[in-house]
Formats: sequence, C-alpha cells, structure tokens
Amino acid sequence: MIRSMRDDIDTVLIDRARLGARIADLGSEITRDLQALHPDPGQIVLLPVLTGAMFFAADLIREIPLKIRVEYVSVTSYPGTATQSRGPRLRIPLPENLGGKHVVIVDDILDSGQTLSLLLDLISRQAPASIRVCVLLHKIKKQETSPPLKADYVGFEIPDAFVVGFGLDYDDYYRNLPEIVTLKRSLLDGSGSP
Ligand code: IMP
Ligand code: MG
Repeated sequence: MIRSMRDDIDTVLIDRARLGARIADLGSEITRDLQALHPDPGQIVLLPVLTGAMFFAADLIREIPLKIRVEYVSVTSYPGTATQSRGPRLRIPLPENLGGKHVVIVDDILDSGQTLSLLLDLISRQAPASIRVCVLLHKIKKQETSPPLKADYVGFEIPDAFVVGFGLDYDDYYRNLPEIVTLKRSLLDGSGSP
C-alpha cells in the first residue's frame, strides 16, 4: 500500500476551515473593489498562475459573484526537489488579449517576488486597464534583500519556511493536501530552507 502523505507532515500551519473563511473574505474584498470600477461585462479577467494557484483560484472565483473570464499562465521556478527559487520561467505563452482589461493575477505564494515581477512586466506591455495581484500566502523573510513587491490582496502572512498543500508542491507532490503544512525535515533535500 502507498504510504499516506499525512505521515510526511511536520506542522499544520493553516487548516481547511481558516483557508475557507479567509478566501470568502478575499472574494468579498475583490468583488467590492471590482464593482467600484463599473466595468463593462467581459472586462474582468482572473489570471491564476498554474500550477500552484489552481486550488486557491477555484475557491476564490466562486466567492466573486460577478461576470468574469478566466485565463491562465503557467510558471515554474522550483524544478524537481528544489526548495529555493531557480528563477521563474513561463511554460506556455501568456494570453494575448489582456489589453484594456481589468486583470486580477492570482498566485499561491509571494516569496522572492520574481514570479509576479516577471508577470507584471509582461502583462503591462499589453496595456491592461488595471492589474491587481492576489496571493494566498506571503512569506515574511527575516531580512529582505530588496524591497518586496506588494500584493493588493494577501490571504495569510507566514514565516520563512518551505510549505506545501492546497496547491503548493514539493517535487510536484502534496498539492492535494487540503491544508497548508510544513514537511518533516528529513524529507527535504539540502538545497535550502527550512
Ligand atoms: P517567488 O518567485 O520567489 O515569489 O516564488 C513564487 C513561486 O515559488 C510560487 O508561485 C510557488 O510556486 C513557489 N514557492 C515559493 N515558496 C514556496 C514554498 O514554500 N513551497 C512551495 N512552493 C513555493
Ligand atoms: Mg507558483
């Protein structure tokens, strides 16, 4: 029998109930801000950053009762068993129809900010009407080397540890854990945190 992933958990940082409650709040906040723009139908685009944000975005969009479209981008920065970013890389071309739209980028976690900086740079070249960034988690470093990019909406601030679950992975596993957890130290390679 395959061993349960639950055996690999060290600590549960955020359980399913807290995730659900916070995502509902974020949905209300985003709804209110988008309504204030008085957009025409078809002008709002939610842009999840796959693969990590797929669970978060699926829950979030169902808390936004507006007519919005969903596009997606796919970015990788943690190849294989890395626990430190190797620099973001687009896996598929960006949607090309973002000009004039109100774009809400949805990502799982803001760490170094490299992924979101790259996306903001590429998307702004299409001249969207506005861009907002929503992240489920913001990892707070003890020492920031450069000023961190600021997300417009943050679900939770977490300490500087490698986390998995609710979309976040280690070597492409653990995305299907329903909560945000840290893994037992012995499971992670020696490439960085925690
Ligand atoms: P950044 O470019 O350093 O801000 O990293 C953002 C991306 O790195 C996220 O979208 C995640 O896919 C990945 N990432 C950052 N921290 C973690 C973590 O603790 N666990 C799993 N993936 C992470
Ligand atoms: Mg990601």
